[in-house]
Formats: sequence, C-alpha cells, structure tokens
Amino acid sequence: MATQPVTQRDSFTSKIGIIAAVAGSAVGLGNIWKFPYITGVFGGGAFVLVYLICIALIGLPVMLSEFIIGRKAQRNAVGSFKKLAPGTLWFMPGIMGLVAAFMILAFYGVVAGWTLEYLLKSVLNAFAGKNPADLEGMFGGFISQVTKPIIWQCVFMGLTGWIVLAGIKGGIERASKLLMPILLMIIIILDIRAITLPGAAEGLAFLFKPDFSKLSAEGMLSALGHAFFSLSLGMGTLITYSSYMGKRENLATTAVQVTVADTVIALLAGIAIFPAVFAFGIEPGAGPGLVFITLPNVFQQMPGGYFFCLLFFLLLAVAALTSSISILEVVVAYFVEELKLGRRAATIMATIAITIAGIPCSLSMGVMSNVQFMGKTFFDWLDFIAANILLPLGGLLIVAFVGWYLGREKTETEVTNEGELKAGYLPLFMFLAKFVAPVVIAIVFLHGLGLF
Ligand code: PHE
Repeated sequence: MATQPVTQRDSFTSKIGIIAAVAGSAVGLGNIWKFPYITGVFGGGAFVLVYLICIALIGLPVMLSEFIIGRKAQRNAVGSFKKLAPGTLWFMPGIMGLVAAFMILAFYGVVAGWTLEYLLKSVLNAFAGKNPADLEGMFGGFISQVTKPIIWQCVFMGLTGWIVLAGIKGGIERASKLLMPILLMIIIILDIRAITLPGAAEGLAFLFKPDFSKLSAEGMLSALGHAFFSLSLGMGTLITYSSYMGKRENLATTAVQVTVADTVIALLAGIAIFPAVFAFGIEPGAGPGLVFITLPNVFQQMPGGYFFCLLFFLLLAVAALTSSISILEVVVAYFVEELKLGRRAATIMATIAITIAGIPCSLSMGVMSNVQFMGKTFFDWLDFIAANILLPLGGLLIVAFVGWYLGREKTETEVTNEGELKAGYLPLFMFLAKFVAPVVIAIVFLHGLGLF
C-alpha cells in the first residue's frame, strides 16, 4: 500500500526538539504544583509509591501506544483513529480526548495565571519579611478575588494561543528547548536548600515512607489519574505531537527518556517542598496553595532568595506554558484537519472558548466557593472528571487499541521503523498493552469510583 502524501503538515525538526517539546508538555504544573499538593492530601509515601508503579506499568506503555498511533497515522487525535481503523467506533477515545483537553486547559489556565501573579509579586519583593501565616493569607486573599486572577488567566491563555499560532517548529519547539534545562537547575538548587532546613527529615519521611493505612481508594485512583495527567497521556496530546515526528525517530527511547525526566522532576519538586512544609509548620494537606505558600518561605531562608524566587516563578510559568500549548494543540489540530478551519481561526476560537470555561473555575476559589455538588466545586469537578475519569478511560482505550486492534505485526513495524531498529522489549510491551495496563486501569478505576 502506498503511503499517502502528507502535504503541508508542519513538523518537528530535530531529535532534541522532539524530546524538549514532549518533555515540555509532560513537565508542568502537574509536577510542581499538583503532585506535591495531592501527595499531601492523600497522605504521602504510600500515594507516591502507587504513583510510581502506575508510571512504570501503565504510563510508559500508554505513552508508547500514543506515539505508535500518532506517528503511524500522521493525523490529529481523532483523525488518527479514523485513519487506522476506518468505519469503526475507535475514534471515540479521540473525542473523549478533545473533551478532556478542553476541561483541563480551562482550569490549568487559571492556576498558570496564579504563577504570573506570583512572578510579579517576586519582582516587587512582596514576600519579604512575611511569616508563613502572612503568606497563607496572601495566597488565599489573591485567589478569592474576582477580577485579578481572571485577568492573569486571560494573559496566560493569550500567550498560549499566540505560541500555538506560530506553529510547531517556530513556536513550540523553540520555546521548549531553551527553558526546560534551566528549570531543572533551579529545582535542584531549591532541593539543596530544603533538605538542609531544620526538620527536613520529617518532610522526606512523609514523602518516601509509605504508610498504607493512609491510602484510600480515591487516593489510588488519583495516583493513577495523576500518572496520566503528569505524563500528558490519555487525551491524544502525544498522539498529536508524535504525528509531527519523523519516521526515523526511536519511539521507545523517546518514551523512556520523557517518562524518567517527568518523574524525576516531580520527585525533586516534592523534595523541595515537604521538608519546608514541616520546617515551617504548614499543613501538608493544605491543598492547591501548597507550593505558593511554602516556597516563598524557603526563598526567604536562602542567600539570593529574591533572585531565585523570581527565577522560579518565571520558569514555573514557562513550564506551564510548554504544557498548555500541547493541550491547545490537540483541539486546534482537530479543528484544522477534521473541521477544515484555518489554523488562525481554529486557534482563536479554541482559545476564547476555553478561557471562558475557565472563568467559573477561577471564581470557585472565591465568590463561587459555595457552589458545590457532592462537596466539590466547579474547579474540583473539572479536575476530577478530566484527570480521574477521562484520562484513565482514554488511556485504557488507547493501549487496548494498540494491543488488540493494531496487533503485534503493525506495532513491530512502527516501533522498529520498518525493521531498522531492534525491539527486544516488544513481547513485554505487547503483554503490558493487551493485559496488564487495561486490567489494572479498569480495577483502579472501578475501585476508585466505589463501583468495585
Ligand atoms: N502534563 C502536564 C503537566 O504535568 C499537563 C498536561 C496534561 C498536559 C494533559 C497535556 C495533557 O503539567
């Protein structure tokens, strides 16, 4: 069968650019904001252990599956399934992915907006001389306002739309390549300061010593959901990105490198935060404000704190940006290729719609905090439905698609670049893709929802 000519499709230009973009998508608020805060909420070490198991056993196979689908089809998340499985319902995970992308970016843009406010506060030296209680009040006071957080959300979403408009190599690839290494360096410096704080051992024990009595079914589901969220899996982000990869890339090594990088950065963020949480007497389960309250305290305790604080929030905003563009790209690529919109119109429409959906998320922190359903605000529901339901379900279907529908032969052709590379891991991968990943996802999922 002749391969279809793919005209005028933008693409990544280099191996390092691909790694930077995929790692840029994976490393974001999920690692530095969400991972420490949910680790605190769900009790520490045992949650972390389940998270790591989910990454290795499920995250990695799902990532490779997305790469296989996207690079083979060279289409957006929905179009890829339509091309590889024409006339079937297999495009459904693609549609679910679009919905998830929409929901995640709605609340992601809000939190990313907070990082911009904190960047400005750092520039103005607004944390100087404040004690932990002041910083807690400062955070709570800021997020519960009506207009300021929404303005920052709009600024952030505007930046996201602007980069996506610039396309793949000019926008996404260039921005990611430059900034990710600097972020890693700052976190390592923060770690060194954090682990030398008095009482650091308690924080490290919280993070690394599993206490299974603290682990609930919802905690396990959240660990699974977060593995997907953090690795950008289950909603077609990496199907979309890998559709811009060349036919000579080694998909398996790329998947391993990105997974390791993402996990290491999350753990380093935890190491920066928990010693400080205990040293300053902050409640580990403090919720979404954890990084914003804890780290300004740490910065005050170190020489050059002003400078490091500024750099940290700058890089956190950038890390959020390299993730948000990958989420927006899922929707834009779909609009362009399936609905035949121009890239400009598609980007503007998607950005505006998602920003509007984010407004009630922002208000959930203040005037709408009482608008709750089953104890969760609008913000919490978007996060819960997207990360804990749509992503695991999407991941299950994606990995099952490769394991059962594409099957071993086509998978082998794709991962070996038509026989050029060796793939000794293939039997293991097929076993994980056909049985282990789908079964484990299904069990954790049903158990976490209380249905099993
Ligand atoms: N992985 C990103 C983060 O950790 C968030 C994200 C989720 C990006 C899903 C794309 C898809 O911040």
